[in-house]
Parts: sequence; C-alpha cells; structure tokens
Amino acid sequence: MMSNKTIVLTGIRSNGPLTLGNYLGAILPLIRLQKKRQYQVNLFLPDLHSIISSVEYNELYNNTLSTLRYFVAAGLDLNDQSTFIYRQSYIPAHSELTWILDCFSYYGELKRMTQFKEKSTHDDNISVGIFNYPALMASDILLYDAEFIPVGEDQRQHLELTRDIALRINNQFGDLFTIPKTWKEQLQFENLQNGIRIRSLKHPENKMSKSISDPSGTILLMDDVNTAKKKVYEATTDSYNKIDFNFDTQPGISNLLQILTLIQDRPLNETILEWRGKSNYGELKQCVANQIEILLNEVGNKFNSITDDSLTETLLRGESAMNVVANQKLYKVQQKVGLRPISS
Ligand code: TYM
Repeated sequence: MMSNKTIVLTGIRSNGPLTLGNYLGAILPLIRLQKKRQYQVNLFLPDLHSIISSVEYNELYNNTLSTLRYFVAAGLDLNDQSTFIYRQSYIPAHSELTWILDCFSYYGELKRMTQFKEKSTHDDNISVGIFNYPALMASDILLYDAEFIPVGEDQRQHLELTRDIALRINNQFGDLFTIPKTWKEQLQFENLQNGIRIRSLKHPENKMSKSISDPSGTILLMDDVNTAKKKVYEATTDSYNKIDFNFDTQPGISNLLQILTLIQDRPLNETILEWRGKSNYGELKQCVANQIEILLNEVGNKFNSITDDSLTETLLRGESAMNVVANQKLYKVQQKVGLRPISS
C-alpha cells in the first residue's frame, strides 16, 4: 500500500469558511500535484489547529468534513491509492511528537513568528495554542517524512521553523527526520516565482483571510456567484489607468492578475504580457469575475453530490494507514530521547 514516492503534504484548518485564498494557495496546488500521479499525497485536516482560537465548537466536527468536501468538489480524487486523507486528532502521535518538539524548540524562535506577534500585540490573553501552533505544524510534517508542502506565503515562516527544528534534532541524534525542502525549492516544485498571497479585494494591502471581518474583500467558496462577482467589480484599484504587475504601486490590479493567472493555470509572465499597458480596469475585472463564476459553479455543483459516507470511509482508511506510519516515527523519536528502550 505505501510507496517510495516523494511525499507532498498539506492541511487547511476549519476555523471559518474557506476563501479563494485557501483555494488558490493550497487546494488547487495539491489537486494539480495529485493529478500528476507521481507523488504520495498526504492531505490532512488540522482539527487541533482549528481550535487555537475560539470557533463554533458545536459545528467544528461537521466543518472539518466540509473542508474535505471542498477539496473533493474542487477535483481531489478520493480513490487514488497514493493519497492518504486523515484528521489530525485521530492520529494521537501528532500531539505526542509536539511535546517532544516543544522541548527542542526555543521560546525565542516561537516568539518571533509573525502570526504570534500580530495576535499577541493586542491581547495578552491569546491562547498558548497560538504560541505553540508551529511546533504542532512541525509534527504534522516530520511524522511522515514529507518533503513538499504546498502552502501560501503566510506559512513560509512556519515551514522554515520546521526545517530548523528538524535539523537541530538530526544534528543531535542522527538522521531521524527527512528535512522538508527549502522555500525556494518548494516554489520551483510548484513552478512559482513567488509564494502565493491572495490579497483582500477591498484592502489589497492585506491578505484575504477567513478570520478578518472583511466580507466585501473576501470571496468565500460558499458565496453565491452574483455576490462574488459584485465583490470583484467593486474591488479597490488605483488611479493610474494603466495595468501593470507591481504589488507596491498597484496592489489591487496585481492581485486581480495574480488571481487570474492561478485560476487559468498559466505562467504569470504570460498573463502580465497579455494585460500590461491596457487601461480598461473594467475589462480585467470582468475577465476575473467570469473565471470566478466558472470556478464557483463547478465547485458548488459538485459539493452537494458528495456523500458524508464517502468522506468518512476515506478518512477511516487514511487514519488507519497513517496511524501506523506516525507511530513508527514517534517510537523512533521516543527511543532517541530516552523514553523507550533501544532494541538491540
Ligand atoms: P490555514 O488554515 O490558515 O490556511 C490553509 C492554507 O491556505 C493558504 N492561504 C492562502 N494562500 C494564499 N493567499 C491567501 N490569502 C491565503 N489564505 C490562506 C495557507 O497558506 C495555507 O496553505 N498552519 C496551517 C495549517 C497546517 C498545515 C500543517 C499546513 C497545519 N499543519 C502542515 C501544511 C502542513 C494553517 O493554519 O493554514
């Protein structure tokens, strides 16, 4: 069942409705990689990460299933034998390895994580879970020897921290973990020039995010088509009246070009060449709106036809297989740090 294929791994939290940013930054890249049939794909649902801040707890279980449903609606093949799909909390080794990694991580390095810094500036009562979140993320990756982690730019720092922790432990104990590829290698692997960071349509200086209350700047995968198109038509642009790709000077227009190129799966340079110098922002918005209409219709139509049973069945299969893999890795780590006997 398990192969020697290179492992690609990613996860999306279910702490709010999924956005176009999640879709373009994580869902679509993973599906495109699955279609190549060259890799082992580990898609997991980080339900433990979903509770680092307050959520609708009574809905979390179903929302977690719903996240997977979006992947399937977007084209993920549930029957691919090289794909393993599982929930984080159903594999206790994630939590157990996190504690051990905590003991090899520094307060100083976790404190420097941008996500933590942003949240802690305003509030001393943020959860320790937010602080500790990158160590859990490192466990998610290191338990499975994953090398490629398709994530958006906002996760870059966490990925780099994962490498640092793994290298530190390997230096001390020998080659225990496979080191995930560098950020540069990740981009090359995904054929990208830069990390993906879809901006808010209303405030293009900010990331499009499910947790910021910016409804008119955020396209949700569950939006109805007309609402979503309206958000595109009303997107903030600028007064240059000339299309160019430059996030510093024209963040709104650059964001639209970025969205377009990712949906159309074209090289960014091609999209820029096609639009650069044109002055009709309305035409660009219309083109983006049309693409989003096609996308939301396709995803929406498929979403409702996926049964809970098919999802649960796939999850149980993935969880059963990955518990074995994760426990093996955990045991090796436990042996190294003196928690289990070293077999002769
Ligand atoms: P999360 O749930 O915040 O986001 C899920 C994925 O969506 C990407 N993303 C974006 N990409 C581009 N533009 C945006 N505006 C945008 N918004 C979100 C994120 O970069 C991410 O890829 N820590 C992770 C979940 C996680 C994980 C892991 C991922 C836990 N363990 C191990 C990979 C490997 C998170 O909170 O993502």
